[in-house]
Parts: sequence; C-alpha cells; structure tokens
Amino acid sequence: MPLSPSDTAPRIALVGATGAVGTTLIQLIEERGFRYREIHLVASSRSAGRELTVEGRTCRVEALDTFDFSAVDLAFFSAGSSVSRKWVPSAVAQGALVIDNTNAFRMDPATPLVVPQVNADELDRRPSSGIIANPNCSTIPLVRLLRPVEDRWGIRQVVVSTYQAASGRGHSGITELHEASRSALEDPSAQGPAVEFTPTLAFNVVPFIDELLDTGFTLEEQKMLQESRKILGLPHLDVTTTCVRVPVVNGHSEAAWIECDDVVARDELVRLLAAQPEVTVHDKDTIGAFPTPRTAGAPDHVHVGRIRVAPHNPRGFWVWVVADNLRIGAALNALQIAEALTERGTL
Ligand code: A2P
Repeated sequence: MPLSPSDTAPRIALVGATGAVGTTLIQLIEERGFRYREIHLVASSRSAGRELTVEGRTCRVEALDTFDFSAVDLAFFSAGSSVSRKWVPSAVAQGALVIDNTNAFRMDPATPLVVPQVNADELDRRPSSGIIANPNCSTIPLVRLLRPVEDRWGIRQVVVSTYQAASGRGHSGITELHEASRSALEDPSAQGPAVEFTPTLAFNVVPFIDELLDTGFTLEEQKMLQESRKILGLPHLDVTTTCVRVPVVNGHSEAAWIECDDVVARDELVRLLAAQPEVTVHDKDTIGAFPTPRTAGAPDHVHVGRIRVAPHNPRGFWVWVVADNLRIGAALNALQIAEALTERGTL
C-alpha cells in the first residue's frame, strides 16, 4: 500500500498537480507503488479546493501561495520555470528537498542534474542547494544512449534533430493542437488558435522551441548541449541540435547522428543499446524496424530503431529514438530520482 504509515516514508507535495506532468506523476505514483506518508496536491489559487483522486482517495488541491512546505519532506515542482524561480527557494528554506522539473536551476553548480540510469551516484548525499534538477525532456533519452556509447567507443560529435510533441507545452498545448487541427480541417484557410505554437502547429512543423538566443540557436537547443555535458560529466562534449515541434499529441522523437573515436560494429552497438535498463531496441526482424510515438509500446522505455552504421564512415551511426516526454522526459525521471533517494536514505 503506497500510503505508508511508516515514519521513514516521505511526506510529499506535487506542485503543478493539475497539469500535464503533475497528473502523469500521480498516475506513476499509483502504478509504481511509490511509498509516501502524506501527499499534498498543489496548484495555482485557480484550482484550490478542486478534488482529485489518488489511489481511490479524494485529495483537495491546495494553493501554492499559502502552502506550508515545512509540512513535507519532498516537493516535486512541475509548474513552469517562473513558478520554480519564485517558490523553490522558499520551499527549500522551509526544509523540503525539491525535485524541480523546470529549467530554473539545472545549470546551478550546487544543484545536481540527474538521470538515474546515468548518474544516480549524485543522489548519495543531499545537495547543498536543497534542489535536484530534472533535465529537459529531449536530453533525458539522449544521454541514456550516449553514456554506454561514450564508454565503449568515445564520442566525437552528436548531431540531433528533435521532433517534439505538443504535450511539451502542457494541457494547453494539447488543447491547442486539437482545436487548430479541427479548425484547419473545417477551413484550410483559417489560421486557428496559435498561442502556444506560432505559427500554428496544425498540419505543420515548427523549428522553434522556447526563446531565440543571440547565437541563433534556441534555448531548447542550448539546453540539450549544456545539460548533456553536465549529466555525462563531459564538459567538452560536442552536441549540436535543431529542435522542431511536430503535430503529435505526446511522445518526442529524435534522429541522432553519433560520430565516435573508433569504428563501430553494428551488431555490438545493437547488443549494447538493448542491454541498457528500460531501453527497447526495435531491430528484431529487419534493420529497418522503427518505433513511432503512437506505436512504440512500453511507455516507460526509451525506444530505439533505424540503427545504421554509415558505410562511408563506420565511426558514425544514426539512431531514431522515441520516448514518452511526459513520462521519461519529465514525471518518470522525477519519480525515479525520488525512488533512488528513498532507497539510499538520502531524504
Ligand atoms: P492550475 O491548473 O491551477 O493553473 P500544464 O503544464 O499542463 O500547463 O500545467 C501547469 C501546472 O502548473 C498546473 O498544475 C497549474 O495549475 C500550475 N501553475 C501554473 N501557474 C501557477 C502558479 N502561478 N502557481 C501555482 N501553480 C501554477
């Protein structure tokens, strides 16, 4: 029974509990039997008093601006960067350890940036900042594949194009994709809503996510470089990315070209990737096998297909990667951090 009377199970708060990541986190807590002593669902004052069900029990949503973080041991924040910047410091000051799903503290040297399958050792001690950062949704599946490749062949360069789903913009992104698609079907000349995605995402692809930087890259693209370096402990790793929003409801894809220091044997590469925890390689019947966001299966796995070592340059290979961004790219990674913390007794 995940609601645990044990004094050692943490009291937890889910900030952003009504959002796309927050509701996924509730589902995962139920599915994985995460043990807690108390659970508090927190959102904006607009949602205060709303009732949500957690494991058959009704929980009332509490407003963030009056929430007392001294009542919890662990707080998950999934309510956007500006909310985290404003409220995480006071949650920490009140004694909570924070797992933050936003960009707010990821590059802070006192805050570990953790993908448990890659650098769980960062969770052996409580960070001095009181915060553990959850990486970007496209970075998480990528580094889970880069780690074993770096260890075996050494990585010279990684070139990635992402194909990112609407759910990366939360419930409002999903709603806007549905509405804009419906309106474009009814009247192809109509613009439809384009607030979360500009221009419209309906029957379109948009090579622009987050804000534009002076370098001409977007912040999303910069995050994939900086975060990969930090998580893998490779400060000079060369990762260059084009991040693209596509009209998919949920599930990010990536096409990655990985060039190594040594020649890569395809059979060994397939075996190596398939041996990684919670990774499914789609390569059984044909080397052309591939996952897609709608057909990959096993939503808690990173899916890999189209594994191609280049005949003209056998140091390099392509992979096609699909991962559920709400789970692997956000809520599941956060919960796996919490599971690792409780296993280690770090809380
Ligand atoms: P609310 O539902 O009350 O607006 P999504 O990523 O799906 O858009 O969800 C965002 C989550 O962050 C929701 O739970 C939302 O709560 C919460 N949120 C947004 N702004 C604030 C805020 N200023 N204070 C607290 N929670 C917020």
